[in-house]
Amino acid sequence: MPVIAVIGAQWGDEGKGKIVDLLAEEANVVVRFSGGDNAGHTVANQFGLFKLHLVPAGIFSTRATAIIGNGVVMNPGVLISELDDLNQRGVDTSRFFISDRAHLVMPYHTLLDGLEEESRGGKAIGTTRKGIGPAFADKAARMGIRAGDLLEKEVFKERLHHILKQKNAILTRVYGVEALPEAEIFNQYCQYGERLAPYILETTWLISEAIARGDIVLLEGAQGTFLDPDFGTYPYTTSSSPLAGGACLGAGIGPTQINQVLGVFKAYCTRVGSGPMPTELTDETGDLIREQAQEYGTTTGRARRCGWFDAVAARFSTRINGYTKLAITRLDVLDNMPNLKICTGYELDGKTIDYFPSSTTALERCRPIYEELPGWMAPTTEAREFDQLPLLARQYVSRLEELAGCPASIISVGMRREETVFKTPLWE
Ligand code: IMP
Repeated sequence: MPVIAVIGAQWGDEGKGKIVDLLAEEANVVVRFSGGDNAGHTVANQFGLFKLHLVPAGIFSTRATAIIGNGVVMNPGVLISELDDLNQRGVDTSRFFISDRAHLVMPYHTLLDGLEEESRGGKAIGTTRKGIGPAFADKAARMGIRAGDLLEKEVFKERLHHILKQKNAILTRVYGVEALPEAEIFNQYCQYGERLAPYILETTWLISEAIARGDIVLLEGAQGTFLDPDFGTYPYTTSSSPLAGGACLGAGIGPTQINQVLGVFKAYCTRVGSGPMPTELTDETGDLIREQAQEYGTTTGRARRCGWFDAVAARFSTRINGYTKLAITRLDVLDNMPNLKICTGYELDGKTIDYFPSSTTALERCRPIYEELPGWMAPTTEAREFDQLPLLARQYVSRLEELAGCPASIISVGMRREETVFKTPLWE
């Protein structure tokens, strides 16, 4: 019965990879619906430790079909190395498909991402430089090349010729760098196309037939709510929608077909890249969280900015995604913290506010108002039932639920699949 959207509820890196890997054992279809190889989904299971960028975390399931949906922008070279690595490590990729509508990340996208960042100087977004922004910009500008185009070489050739002429004009005249070679790109992408051809197809029928059969379908989010170009801290955002609404568009299903929206929150906050983060800790507590949790970017290796749980942002995240259940991850990271803080309001220009401002400059001026809770100072990783958690840990979780405005179903207390507490069932 259930179609479940798994949504990053903060700034990404909430641990969606683990949650999808866990749920995928019961699922029939798993669809990645947004982003590109800017994402880094860490999964630790019986096959080993994986850092996936494009292939859905559902690939490890013994039964699920894993799909890269139309809402993803795909760098074919990165995808092929990921598939090779999975195959070499014994993971079955025979039930993997790519939507023919998914746009491709081309060499000029990655090049332009870097050049655009450099031209922003002190106002750089801190992108992953994987070409994501330029690829989604081209999609909207109707200048994109899609996975399906690789199956029609003549169409691809003509499109590439037309588009590359414009891109090379920008590269040489605006940025003063060398033009990219058309024949080389064409040949390289034709090779990619030959390799990926067996996987590329119209995927919406696979998903709609699964829904009609009553199968379990997971819609796998990438990035997080506050990186959404509409509701995030614009312009310090990514370029596709990580929201539950984005799941419909990026997988090709209607909103009435989603039964559960699972908001994945870390028990604290992190952010990588520039832009406001009201609860950021630039002191030794922030360093302690970073080292304890090894908060370094999966895709770029950058140190993540760490801070306390922001309940103002969390409430907003619940509102714009319509969560039906929460997953609270990395609770174990707080095991050794004697005192914990939760941000319950902001002070903005001398006034107390309880909402997440849409103006990024206003958000930059917000100072967090905290409520303090005692830490539990005990290990949680061995807990498998909610009542096996220390009382103070249960109280912390309950307070997060109350402030975020949604009950938790899953609490993650470690990296591995089994290090999980099901507080309430996600579906009956
Ligand atoms: P882009 O998506 O590479 O254009 O980067 C835009 C912003 O989103 C930067 O601040 C990145 O650090 C951030 N970002 C992109 N993907 C992820 C992710 O998977 N996790 C966390 N932050 C991300």
